[in-house]
Amino acid sequence: MNVEDLNIKEMIGNAGKILSEHDRKKGVLIHTLQKIQQDYGYLPEDVLKTLSKKLSLPLAEIYSIATFYKTFHFSPRGRNIVNICVGTACHVKGNKEIISTIENAFNVKVGGTAADMSVTVETVGCVGCCAIAPVVVVNSSEIVGDLNIQKTTSLVNEIKDGAFEGGIRDETD
Ligand code: FES
Repeated sequence: MNVEDLNIKEMIGNAGKILSEHDRKKGVLIHTLQKIQQDYGYLPEDVLKTLSKKLSLPLAEIYSIATFYKTFHFSPRGRNIVNICVGTACHVKGNKEIISTIENAFNVKVGGTAADMSVTVETVGCVGCCAIAPVVVVNSSEIVGDLNIQKTTSLVNEIKDGAFEGGIRDETD
């Protein structure tokens, strides 16, 4: 084929159509993934397989896009999410004890979810509250600082009692 014969306008036009179709699907995909996660709390594989068929997008591409965003999860999560800060200040102020207290109390390792689905325990980088290190964030909304073993045990008991379910600590008791 002679390069001179190429109709650039036509080529761009076709490429534009292809891109917009693909982009449209990706736009639908991200919105749909958010909805799925809202409903299930994570992205179940069988639901993603169905979505892959519906959108005619390869499952691998869906995973590739979904894993790019930290907000998506691929396994069931607990009713409470406990994020233990592992930033420098919290590390220096003894977050190791906090981690082991929480792990032992819920019988789960960091990164895991308790068998009764009451909690998922994760770590997080500095949350900007170093003055009250060591710090834990519950359900992305409640920052609890100046933790020691005793205070952490009280926090664990509150979580077990469901005080944080629904996002905000219930202090009516
Ligand atoms: S290092 Fe934990 S809040 Fe800054």
